[in-house]
Amino acid sequence: MSMILIAPSILSADFAALGAEVRAVDVAGADMIHVDVMDGHFVPNLTIGPMVVKALRKHSAKPFDVHLMIAPVDPLIPAFAEAGADIITVHPEAGPHLHRSLQLIRALGKKAGVSLNPGTPEGVVAPVLDLVDLILVMSVNPGFGGQSFIDSQLAKIAALRRMIDQSGRDIVLEVDGGVNTHTIGPAFAAGARAFVAGSAIFGDNSNYSERIADLRRAIAT
Ligand code: DX5
Ligand code: ZN
Repeated sequence: MSMILIAPSILSADFAALGAEVRAVDVAGADMIHVDVMDGHFVPNLTIGPMVVKALRKHSAKPFDVHLMIAPVDPLIPAFAEAGADIITVHPEAGPHLHRSLQLIRALGKKAGVSLNPGTPEGVVAPVLDLVDLILVMSVNPGFGGQSFIDSQLAKIAALRRMIDQSGRDIVLEVDGGVNTHTIGPAFAAGARAFVAGSAIFGDNSNYSERIADLRRAIAT
């Protein structure tokens, strides 16, 4: 089986104890730490900035998968790179020049991601594939944790799987939003290999290693 990456989204963690939460999912078997950055403008919610990412950096050596839901995005990309992001993902709608944003991320020595909203077609990413390390398919509208998986996004995941395979490029296909033990199987079958999960892992604030193991098991069965 191909490599599976589980990326807990700290959006659903206890914001009063973020360092401890990051350490807890790290030891529980997370492959990456997913950090949702929201500006109250591009999306109707407000979360954290580069100072918090920098403060969290020392709590885990796992890759920080930083999902920027801010516009304009370019002016803040260097600050997130400096803060310790490993992957920086932008939305095409968040800046006037997607290609330039990706060039900037790569020039800062980071992996570059493109995130596609439910209403954004997969073709947007085709012209910039050579600058992309990760494609994030939003299976909810961005802004909040705990929403339901939008099934129509499975066809987009499948189309992107074909696009990536045909390109022969090493690009991670990630799905974000409403991922749980019921939806992760269909998303995997469609071709996703990285799975962001917020409420499914942090939701009941219980045993994170069990929750992560449940997700891996749901793919295998
Ligand atoms: C939504 C964020 C997601 C969110 C997922 O805008 O991008 O990462 O935290 O939360 P769940 O897994 O609860 O849908
Ligand atoms: Zn996200």
